[in-house]
Amino acid sequence: MKILVINGPNINMLGIREPGIYGSNTFADLLALLEQTAREENIEIEQYQSNHEGCLVDKIQESFGKVDGIVINPAAYTHTSVAILDALKAVSIPAVEVHISDVDSREPFRQISYAGLACQKTIKGQGLQGYRQAILYLKDFLQK
Ligand code: DQA
Repeated sequence: MKILVINGPNINMLGIREPGIYGSNTFADLLALLEQTAREENIEIEQYQSNHEGCLVDKIQESFGKVDGIVINPAAYTHTSVAILDALKAVSIPAVEVHISDVDSREPFRQISYAGLACQKTIKGQGLQGYRQAILYLKDFLQK
């Protein structure tokens, strides 16, 4: 089983950016968590991060026929990108949306998610552990 974890803009700045909102764990900590989860769960996890909307769309398209599930934190593009929504719909790969912060308790514009419309589930406000929860959910779903 192969799961692709996609992160959008500024997620590579974890640990530096707004620690009061996103915590003090770094992007390297997130990558370590993904590697640990892959080992423990005996699955393959590929990760991809980009600050560019078109690159995220390209990666989703390229994953067609290659991965079983997608975990995606589109970051700021969550709230603006119909292109990412359409790419997820185009490949029709089971997907889970993750947000590190609790977007529901933040600004009103963060409460709109386009990508989420193509996802089976959204996990928010769980910090980095939200990625692990999303992977475990997808593993369970894909095994059924
Ligand atoms: C985020 C929430 C978004 O609103 C924000 O633009 C991000 C990160 C999160 O993980 O909490 O960059 O997706």
